[in-house]
Order: sequence, then C-alpha cells, then structure tokens
Amino acid sequence: MPQLSNEHKLEIERVLTQSSIIPVITIHRLADAVPLCKALYEGGLGVLEITLRTECGVAAIREVRNALPDALVGAGSVTSIAQYREVELAGAQFVITPGVTEAVLEFGVTSEAPLLPGISTASELMMGHIHGYRHFKFFPAEVSGGVAALKALAGPFPGVKFCPTGGIRRETAADYLKLENVAAVGGSWLTPADKVAAKDWAAISDIARASLVDAGKQSRASD
Ligand code: 3PG
Repeated sequence: MPQLSNEHKLEIERVLTQSSIIPVITIHRLADAVPLCKALYEGGLGVLEITLRTECGVAAIREVRNALPDALVGAGSVTSIAQYREVELAGAQFVITPGVTEAVLEFGVTSEAPLLPGISTASELMMGHIHGYRHFKFFPAEVSGGVAALKALAGPFPGVKFCPTGGIRRETAADYLKLENVAAVGGSWLTPADKVAAKDWAAISDIARASLVDAGKQSRASD
C-alpha cells in the first residue's frame, strides 16, 4: 500500500502549527474573497481554508492565492477526486475533506497538495492511519463528542494530532487547544455573515485578533 511521504506529513504539520486557528471561509460573492481573506490575515490568521460550498469557491482560492502570497491557502469541503484536482490547479496549498473514502486517502498520498482527512470515529482514523496519515480534521467536533472524544482518542492513537472543527466558537476554542493532541482548531465564527454582508473588514480583523488572544496564542500588547 502506498504510504504518505514524510514531506507531506511535514507540510500538513506546518499548516496546523503556523496558525492555531484556521478560519473556515465560505465565499458567497467572489468580490468578497480577497478583502475578507486579507482582513483575516491582517488579524493574525496566516492559514485560510476556503470551502467549496459555493460556486465561486475554486475561483476564490485562485484569487486569494495571487493576492496573499505569504498566506497558506487551502481548500475545504472537498469531497471528490475531481474537486481535489480542481483545487490543486487553482493553487490550493492543502486540502481538507469532511470525511474519508479509500479513493481520497489514496489520492492524497500522491497528490501535490497535502491532505488533512476528516474523521469522527476511531475506525475512520484507522483507515487513514494505515496509509501513514497522522494529522486529521475531527469533524463535526462538538456533536461527535468534542473535547471528551479527543481525550479518549489520545489513548489508542498517541502520535496523532487533530484539527477539530464544527460547532467550535471563540469561547470554546481554548478548551480544545489545551489538549496535547490538538494542533489547531477551525471554525466559521471568524467570518460572521452580517459583518461580511456589511463589508466590515476591520471588524473581521478584530474578531481574528480577539480570538487569538482568547485562545492564549497572542497577547494584546504584541498586536
Ligand atoms: C467545517 O467544515 O469545518 C465546519 O462546518 C465549520 O464548522 P462551524 O461552521 O460550526 O464553525
């Protein structure tokens, strides 16, 4: 069975350690993509997950990659190999899936952009583990047992690190980040719909900064 390369493992580790909070971004108007991502980046979030939940997701990845060359821009909500290929062509630097299929796990081993596979059970984790994956998205985190479930998974899988997402908010991010096996958390609380609709980019930067402070990852003095 083809195994995940060390290079891919290190790349995904870099994604998860570069920023402990990863915004899960859904773009409804392509024109919002660059200013919204810029606001998040300026607020201290250097890793951006742009989902394929809307038609302009792929175009948004392409535009943000060009506009923010120093950010790490990845694709989220990828559910097929066809989408995986499409986002790689658009320049995605990493790919996140909500769940796993054998085909996606195999593709991720040889793909250009490294994969962060989504799991919510020990069995799904084991499917990825046998391919060499050691980093997983834990999704949907809150309804799958949250902090308690991640503590339980630490026992049988000591070398595995997670990025929980799904139902995490600014107030609860720190509870997850305290866990040894959590490298980063993701969520959509960083891009509230009303602020995006009002193009209030300064407020988005403020939410990013405040979230990092609340998560204990940055002091206000260093802003
Ligand atoms: C994801 O795909 O990671 C989640 O849908 C984000 O979950 P949230 O909207 O509850 O933060």
